[in-house]
Amino acid sequence: MRQICVVGVGYVGLITAAGFADLGNRVIALDISEKKIEGLKKGDMPIYEPGLEELVERNVKSGRLTFTTSYTEGLKGTEYVFIAVGTPSGVDGEADLQYVEAAARSVAENMSDELVIINKSTVPVGTGDWVAGIVKRHQKAAIPFSVVSCPEFLREGSAIFDFQNPHRTVLGSLDREAADKVAQLHLPLRAPIVITDLRTAEMIKYASNAFLATKISFINEIANICEALGADVTEVATGMGYDERIGHHFLSAGLGYGGSCFPKDVLALAHMAEEKGKHPQLLHAVMDINADRRPMAVERVKEMLGGDVKGKTIGMLGLAFKPNTDDMRDAPSIDIAKALIAAGAHVRGYDPVSMGVAAPLMPDVKMYDDPYSMAEGCDALMINTEWNEFKQLNRRQLQESMNQPVIFDGRNIYDPAEMKDLNFIYRGLGRGYNGAHTAEA
Ligand code: UDX
Repeated sequence: MRQICVVGVGYVGLITAAGFADLGNRVIALDISEKKIEGLKKGDMPIYEPGLEELVERNVKSGRLTFTTSYTEGLKGTEYVFIAVGTPSGVDGEADLQYVEAAARSVAENMSDELVIINKSTVPVGTGDWVAGIVKRHQKAAIPFSVVSCPEFLREGSAIFDFQNPHRTVLGSLDREAADKVAQLHLPLRAPIVITDLRTAEMIKYASNAFLATKISFINEIANICEALGADVTEVATGMGYDERIGHHFLSAGLGYGGSCFPKDVLALAHMAEEKGKHPQLLHAVMDINADRRPMAVERVKEMLGGDVKGKTIGMLGLAFKPNTDDMRDAPSIDIAKALIAAGAHVRGYDPVSMGVAAPLMPDVKMYDDPYSMAEGCDALMINTEWNEFKQLNRRQLQESMNQPVIFDGRNIYDPAEMKDLNFIYRGLGRGYNGAHTAEA
């Protein structure tokens, strides 16, 4: 049985820890937060992720997964330590590495055996070398160690599935033997393993996220053009996606990307490029298009309500940045609610899981326990997050209780033709065609 220590029990750390324990390793998950560790020992998860509680519980019961706040305890007898701490955006968009630095330092000060230090956090290209320097400087004795970059590609909401079914494992190191050792840990996952140098592995993560963000901004730009030309972006995306070089994924037009990764990573990549005198024009276009989605949504609702939202009541269906998570980091709903309130609207909110997290972030938004009571007396509803439960809402019931049947669908979950039949005043995004054939001479 291999022994692994995972530093950080956030999204990435906790899933990595529980995932490797489930593969039969002995894993000690370490965090400096007493509160989080005490909670985990009692079975309280610090984050919401479908299936996580069961996975943790199963592996704690089997004795393969334990928790600690002590580096001496975490590193005793350990061959591998994963660093999976947060790397928030600094003031200029550069990644803030203070937590990585603190973790590397503590590992150095407390290691007693030969160690492979594996970096999972998304860090600027060159950080692996920097971490190696920190460890070297803070070691109490010259114990051999290697640094390997192993970027994570987990999506919130399906992180456990993604851990167990990766598309690939990327490993970067200047020490091939260490990379091979980490590859061994990943073999049961049966995914292709790309072994490269440290900086290239770090770059693969940024390039992957920037590419996905580019796909989203691309389709959002196409959505704008579809609206102007009378085409339907959802069908355009379907038609494009059958080309295997394009693929169907990440072509849903909507309110743009949010969350903890894409906004931060695209910005950080642009920042790294600019520091070296490069002009990442495409990355800036991607960010600009994304930033425009939120004010555009507010404008749409205004238009639908006759040009003004002053005194109007608007209900937001969905607050989280995407479904199956309670994560509100950079969620479009925050900016949208702010702008609507600033324009004089009364804003209400409902989300199946994120309301507890959302409420303090939007104190002027009145939260409701269910979508139907929220809709009562609303002048408009807007769909911010494509939760499955919204797809099945009883729209007649909504309509009867609303002041007027106006729905702005920021995620294109409904069929415009059906909404027309139901007598809704309905608009999605990029659906210029709107279900009606018009023959122009
Ligand atoms: C992302 C990456 O997918 C993952 O590999 C990486 O490790 C972390 O960042 P995550 O932030 O959990 O994961 O969310 P993801 O499902 O990728 O969606 C990101 C954002 O893009 C969401 O705001 C989502 O609403 C938006 N999106 C996604 C679209 O607007 N359209 C799409 O077609 C796909």
